[in-house]
Amino acid sequence: MRTFYSVQDIEDFIAQGITQLVIDGNTTVTGPARDLLRLNGIPIIEETNGRTMNNQARTAPPVQQGMPIETPVSRNGRVPMLQLALDYISVPPAVAMAVQVQEFVDIIEIGTPLIKVAGVEGVKAIREVCPDKIILADFKTPDVGGLEAQLAFDAGADIVSIIGGATLATVKEALKVANERPGKDIVMECTGVRDIVGMAREWKEIGVTRLVYHREWDAQAAGREWQEEDKRIIQEIINMGFKVTVTGGLTPELIPFFAGLDVFIFICGRAIHQAPDPRAAAKRMRDTIWSIWGRPSSAAATGPAVQPVMNQNSSFSDSFVDRAVDALKKQKE
Ligand code: 5RP
Repeated sequence: MRTFYSVQDIEDFIAQGITQLVIDGNTTVTGPARDLLRLNGIPIIEETNGRTMNNQARTAPPVQQGMPIETPVSRNGRVPMLQLALDYISVPPAVAMAVQVQEFVDIIEIGTPLIKVAGVEGVKAIREVCPDKIILADFKTPDVGGLEAQLAFDAGADIVSIIGGATLATVKEALKVANERPGKDIVMECTGVRDIVGMAREWKEIGVTRLVYHREWDAQAAGREWQEEDKRIIQEIINMGFKVTVTGGLTPELIPFFAGLDVFIFICGRAIHQAPDPRAAAKRMRDTIWSIWGRPSSAAATGPAVQPVMNQNSSFSDSFVDRAVDALKKQKE
């Protein structure tokens, strides 16, 4: 049973006069809630197996501090990370989905439709409920790269996507902002790019390290299948030194097709969030990746399914978390 403390919960606790907040391993304190505690000089005491750890000095979750965005490793080498794409057109169900499945994924993507509907508020909402995850804002930025990267990072994203058709000037501006902030990065979205290897050469020269290789939704709907030629191009850009993300209608059945490739990230959207049981679907996707590339040495043993439970005492009726609970209830009706 996981408990979430939001800003409103912390405000209530402060009104009650608390001088410290004791939490255990099943409690998530959202990023803004941690900031509020810090501003009020209230330490977080983490209890681990009866031992306590004063956490007052911690200013933000690790990823927001700018940790390197790296894959875990198994005995076989690199293990691709799993990214959940939240392609929604409103924030509450996206938040609900993120809360439900975050346990099984490494990266949470605020999908382009959600960015178009909610803007950076969508990024902030997901960052609030997933303080310890890598967050990717799928802006697919076409121009004004510096400003868009700044907006995404300020909202809590760790990576922002730039559309492959953008000019090198736009890519450079976005990259400049990312390079000023440790742990932040951009990724080039190859959607619609006809000569991916040729463009990759140009991007490499200016310092880009990440690419998304994409089977587009519309192409998929028009009958495009994954082919050997895709694997050849993916291998070529990996050989050039890129950290390559692969996406586009991926399912656990399709993942073995990519075995043998040093893929950095697999993105999965519909196969998880449209599944009857998204947690089971996310776990199956992750387990399929692990069955091929190896289980990360650092992975904790997977325990019984944990159903996310929001803080029962919360009176913050307008919080994203509370709205997410409502959305979940409506989904079940
Ligand atoms: C569409 C996208 C999607 O986020 C990406 O394709 C992953 O979603 P799915 O697994 O449903 O294809 O960027 O342009």
